[in-house]
Amino acid sequence: MQHIKGLPRSSGSFPWRLSAATMLALLVAATAASALLLQARGTAPPRIPSYVEWTPDTVAASSRGDAFRGMLLARRCDHCHGAEGFSAVGYTPNLAGIDRLAIWKQLEDFRSYKRLSREMNPIAESLSPRDVADVVAYYAKLPAFADPQDKRIFPQPRPDPGHAGIASRLVSFGDGERGIPPCQACHGPVGYRPGAPLLVNQNAEYVLNQLEAFASAGRANDINMPMRTVAGLLTEDERHALAEYYGAGLGLEPASLTAPK
Ligand code: HEC
Ligand code: HEC
Repeated sequence: MQHIKGLPRSSGSFPWRLSAATMLALLVAATAASALLLQARGTAPPRIPSYVEWTPDTVAASSRGDAFRGMLLARRCDHCHGAEGFSAVGYTPNLAGIDRLAIWKQLEDFRSYKRLSREMNPIAESLSPRDVADVVAYYAKLPAFADPQDKRIFPQPRPDPGHAGIASRLVSFGDGERGIPPCQACHGPVGYRPGAPLLVNQNAEYVLNQLEAFASAGRANDINMPMRTVAGLLTEDERHALAEYYGAGLGLEPASLTAPK
């Protein structure tokens, strides 16, 4: 850099001349500005994964819907999620038979932009709290295994035996060495964690997308981050194996495939 006549040479130029107080003020201003920017973009600080907390009030709010009114509202959801809650495209989730708490939380998170989706944010925003409770009641009531005549793509082909083995071990036993708990302890059929959606009838492509989104923290709405942790510990091959496993409908019968080698 060329020295300009009249200005002091060496260490005296621009940032070093600022007093500690000025630096602090600049820092505060920059932090405030970035917080405002984040707010303006609808991205809340990542520290708060969701505004939903499981309390007697939220459990009651998610459980008081009217399934009949929900069925009428769901006409707006049918063309993507399927008439019986089984969608015709792999990246759109099946909603049939999913637990009320789980669907309710996702709709609340879409409404508050805690979970981002081009399709779902505007749709969820247009629903009133009563609408949300009603569609939740409707989808939770639909049979998890619907009429095979329905135009749906579930179940998908079975994974090859290698992949099936990898997935079934993780679903049934997890991996103690890496600190991965068994999926079925939270997602059923063995145990349920409040807000953990049923996976036994979920599309492979959707499951894979969600595991990848959690692993990269692109989806960060899991309270206490069980999924960002678990998905981040899985290898890419394991994420594929698990997606294929659930997509093939194997999650319903874990015992048949559980025997670890
Ligand atoms: C234009 C297509 C479209 C319409 C219409 C639509 N959805 Fe969705 N929905 C999606 C897609 C795509 C996703 C997955 C988003 C992602 O990948 O994160 C989704 C995700 C969801 C989820 C999250 C499910 C889970 O297991 O986490 C819920 C709940 C949901 N939608 C409910 C509804 C309801 C209720 C309606 C109607 C009021 C509706 N959707 C209308 C496309 C649609
Ligand atoms: C400690 C409990 C726990 C364990 C273990 C767990 N999950 Fe989850 N999972 C959750 C919860 C809770 C959610 C819902 C997060 C939210 O609120 O958005 C979730 C969400 C998901 C979703 C998104 C579902 C949807 O419909 O949007 C997928 C896919 C998933 N988990 C797969 C897995 C797989 C595969 C494993 C095993 C390797 C696993 N999970 C282990 C608790 C768990």
